Amino acid sequence: MTTILVTGGTGLIGKHLCILLKEKGYNVSVLSRNKSNKSNYFYWNLETDYIETKAITESDYIIHLAGAGIADKRWTKKRKIALIDSRVKSTNLLFRKVKELNPTLKAFIGASGIGYYGATTSTKIYNENDSPGTDFLSEVCKHWENASNQFNSLNIRTVLFRTGVVFSKKGGALEKMSKPIKFGMGAAIGSGKQFTPWVHIEDICNMYIEAIENDKLKGIYNAVALEHITNKSLTKNISNTLNKSLWLPNIPPFLFKLIFGKMAVLLLEGSRVSSEKIAATGFKFKYPTLTKALNHVLK
Ligand SMILES: NC(=O)c1ccc[n+]([C@@H]2O[C@H](COP(=O)([O-])OP(=O)(O)OC[C@H]3O[C@@H](n4cnc5c(N)ncnc54)[C@H](OP(=O)(O)O)[C@@H]3O)[C@@H](O)[C@H]2O)c1
Repeated sequence: MTTILVTGGTGLIGKHLCILLKEKGYNVSVLSRNKSNKSNYFYWNLETDYIETKAITESDYIIHLAGAGIADKRWTKKRKIALIDSRVKSTNLLFRKVKELNPTLKAFIGASGIGYYGATTSTKIYNENDSPGTDFLSEVCKHWENASNQFNSLNIRTVLFRTGVVFSKKGGALEKMSKPIKFGMGAAIGSGKQFTPWVHIEDICNMYIEAIENDKLKGIYNAVALEHITNKSLTKNISNTLNKSLWLPNIPPFLFKLIFGKMAVLLLEGSRVSSEKIAATGFKFKYPTLTKALNHVLK
């Protein structure tokens, strides 16, 4: 039986992915910072560079999703280090252990973010060949991807998904965005012209599965839906789906900067990101349009 090790398998994407993988008949194990009695759970500790050996030796594929939540806390100096270390150190540790224990791993499949391109608002459509931005999140993604790409040196197929905002019924950014709209207090953010590249959870999970099953997938793919949508349009579409009206003016940027500090750029800026490369592999989106995705997630 093919065994898939999912780091961060306890998170938003990981939990759903594990369900889909099991439904497809894979043996799934989870690598977590928390010890568990469950038979398919393995423990790792980034501070002590520890991973249960069996987690690595028994894996045919590794899907690496673990990382401290980008939008969970304000980006203090300490938090920034946690955001980088939880991604880069964890990938380096996986790399060293695979090199030592399981050099025949079939593929390493990892996450990255569309933050790679930098937080700017423009009409440019970014593709996988574009250079990284220069802000904090770009730096995180750049170092994270570099760490992941070490697996290429072991001739292990490496696939990375630069992921947009994941839409799910079980939490994440869309839940936070739709809450004030549900209470009749919603409004577009800042200029409202910034784009929000997004992807439905089913589609991002199916991309990870495709990366296991289609060995032609290799390298970086943007994991975003086909439609480009501005924050203003997204806000309007959410309110239409929820049958709520929007009456408030756009929320001024300074308020977000006050509440979220530097992290506010996540909400205030955004460009279009292309999913042509993944679509060209034959990957079929189940939720290619915003209307279909919102109707599924919000109703
Ligand atoms: N959701 C999105 O919209 C989105 C968008 C772009 C990119 N991504 C990326 O995709 C990956 C998965 O996203 P997600 O939304 O499923 O994330 P999530 O819900 O925040 O879960 C991530 C998992 O990482 C582990 N983790 C948390 N803090 C950690 C730390 N300090 N050190 C090591 N591990 C830590 C946790 O697992 P344990 O507690 O079991 O160890 C957690 O369940 C993340 O790397 C994220 O950056 C997500």
